[in-house]
Amino acid sequence: MSHMNTRTHVKTIWAGARKSEKYPLVIGSGLQKELLAVVRREGRERRLAIITDNHVGKIWGQDLLKSLRRSGLPVELIHFPQGEGHKNQKTVTALQHELLKRRFGRDTLIIALGGGVVGDVAGFVAATYLRGVPYVNVPTTLLAMVDSSIGGKVGIDTPYGKNTVGAFWQPRAVVMDLRYLRGMPRRAIVNGLMEAVKTSLTSDGKGFPLALKLDLDQPLRTAGVLLRIIHSSARIKTGVTERDVREENERRLLNFGHTIGHALELLSGYRLPHGYAVGYGMLVESKISELLGVLSPLEFREVRNTLAKFGISTAALRRYPVNKILEATKRDKKTRAGVSHYVLLQSIGSVYKKAGQFAHPVPDAVVRKALVSLVS
Ligand SMILES: NC(=O)c1ccc[n+]([C@@H]2O[C@H](COP(=O)([O-])OP(=O)(O)OC[C@H]3O[C@@H](n4cnc5c(N)ncnc54)[C@H](O)[C@@H]3O)[C@@H](O)[C@H]2O)c1
Repeated sequence: MSHMNTRTHVKTIWAGARKSEKYPLVIGSGLQKELLAVVRREGRERRLAIITDNHVGKIWGQDLLKSLRRSGLPVELIHFPQGEGHKNQKTVTALQHELLKRRFGRDTLIIALGGGVVGDVAGFVAATYLRGVPYVNVPTTLLAMVDSSIGGKVGIDTPYGKNTVGAFWQPRAVVMDLRYLRGMPRRAIVNGLMEAVKTSLTSDGKGFPLALKLDLDQPLRTAGVLLRIIHSSARIKTGVTERDVREENERRLLNFGHTIGHALELLSGYRLPHGYAVGYGMLVESKISELLGVLSPLEFREVRNTLAKFGISTAALRRYPVNKILEATKRDKKTRAGVSHYVLLQSIGSVYKKAGQFAHPVPDAVVRKALVSLVS
């Protein structure tokens, strides 16, 4: 049997802040049966709408549609154009109108099939359609599996910034099937891996060396490693988001690498993929942590050398002028009174906490020094 068909061990994590809201995250490879069971359970007496993008729809949508129909479930598929550029109000309105046109009622169950964009958009449609209907998330990118499908943040971008309109809306279940990652380009795998690396760096450090064992070109050849990375990220993120659902405190630690990361995304016109932006962000913010005496030079070097193995290098940072990066950080949601805030790394596996706070004001002069020292 080829490695492609091997069914890995199935793992389930229970998420949800309150007992009455518990929902499963099912992780494994070849989860057709598990997905069907979830949809049968959550979709009982409901009409099902698969929401996906045109690209995923073509590769995996028809397959899912047929399999659910074969099981006698009333299901339809609706898609929107792929890409971050379509994660907006226009797409949400089009999807809401399409559901209304097809007379989907309050008995709707939405199945979000796709990457982070689909999860965010379809989840937001679920949160708002007829004042809220349930949804099941089926992430198909590594980034969506390790990060965006967990925690219930849904939403869209506006001309004023990324994720500036949205809601907290928890799914009824998340089914993470590794088989969707078959044939994915290396860049897409590294993109997702960076969020997993971030979670590990800030929370336990164990996944950090594990990431180096992953076959980036054919991740399913190292399916066991992949499963452990996804499981570990999902478990950590679930714990953090349960303790702080609305990002009032601890959840902010997941923003490590994101102050600089969001600035780079903005400067690139959102052409730089989110995970890569976070990768460069982690590099700069680790340097800031070192300059502030929070992170040891030895551990900074380890972070830098490990990120370099994934192609996250200082060379790419040179594309963005230091002044512009600094200016763009002021648009970050964590900015207070014009001072940018940063999550600081204390060691591989923990962040710096002061007076119970996870994000700290850092003077522009320190950020500038970090950027200049990395690019020169
Ligand atoms: N809600 C959250 O907590 C959270 C967290 C992190 C990131 N995000 C969001 O996630 C988004 C990025 O997610 P993404 O990187 O998954 O992007 P994406 O959803 O745009 O997917 C990237 C590309 O891969 C394609 N694709 C998806 N699955 C595929 C598959 N199995 N095979 C082949 N191609 C496939 C898509 O069609 C798309 O073109 C951003 O909008 C970001 O803001 C949200």
